Amino acid sequence: MFPNHLLTTEGLSHNAILTILDKAASFFTPEGQLQQNTTLQGITVANLFFEPSTRTRSTFELAAKKLSAHVLNLSLSHSSITKGETLLDTVKNLQAMQCQLFVLRHMASGAAHFIASHVSPQIGVINAGDGCHAHPTQALLDLFTIRKYCSDFQSLRIAIVGDIYHSRVARSQIHALQTLRTGEIRVIGPKTLLPPHINTLGVNVFYDPEQGLKDVDVIMMLRIQHERMQAGRLPLGEAYYRTYGLTAERLALAAPNAIIMHPGPVNRGVEMQSELIEHPQSVILDQVTNGIAVRMAVMSLLMEHKK
Ligand code: CP
Repeated sequence: MFPNHLLTTEGLSHNAILTILDKAASFFTPEGQLQQNTTLQGITVANLFFEPSTRTRSTFELAAKKLSAHVLNLSLSHSSITKGETLLDTVKNLQAMQCQLFVLRHMASGAAHFIASHVSPQIGVINAGDGCHAHPTQALLDLFTIRKYCSDFQSLRIAIVGDIYHSRVARSQIHALQTLRTGEIRVIGPKTLLPPHINTLGVNVFYDPEQGLKDVDVIMMLRIQHERMQAGRLPLGEAYYRTYGLTAERLALAAPNAIIMHPGPVNRGVEMQSELIEHPQSVILDQVTNGIAVRMAVMSLLMEHKK
């Protein structure tokens, strides 16, 4: 069954994930162009971004416009939240303006769940990243990208590297990869950037990247989330890069033709060697393009199930 809102990948069924990925694929022409259609004609999408974003905000807007929706963009600094209005009152006012689909990025974990539990049944809510909790469309576009370049998930070894502790992306990736029965999921990072009991999510934990990257098919790098970091969690910049940064030497430990992924924004020379971003094995910019298609798929499927 397709959910009423997309708030997390936890509990999203195998069938729902494949439906989203197949729908996203259907929007590409054989030449790789994204086609315009009228699926959301007459619908208004409210893009509420209360944390900075380049990729997610822009690709949601482009995706909504490709589906012929009207788009209303609201950022924290331009909203009346700065004058004391609550998030829920903001959403209720936008609902009164006949917005039907809300895309919410918020610094508080659970913000999208909270809004989803208060809107009318005909409204859809999509979590575009809430605190350290979840970023489901990022995980889905990552799956879409892996499926494009690699064989089936059950035979893949996938490594997620870096700041797992603060990463909503990693949590969403792990849940979705588990649902697709990925062969092996590894997490690699310093002890201070790995959540306690992370192994209960069915992943193999490595503190040493030289061991963890051996023979993997997919390397998913993560951004160091300085804005969420408490003092002492992170070995200082240069030391982190020396120990955990992806370098050409470390890439050579992975399977031949392993793909390099990063959700962005990348801190060049911190999470990875700057040249690797443009390396032939890097699919980082293709992830961005795929994000438009996956967000088109999520928005159209949510609204289809509201009819
Ligand atoms: N990957 C991602 O969420 O990037 P933005 O913060 O730029 O949206």
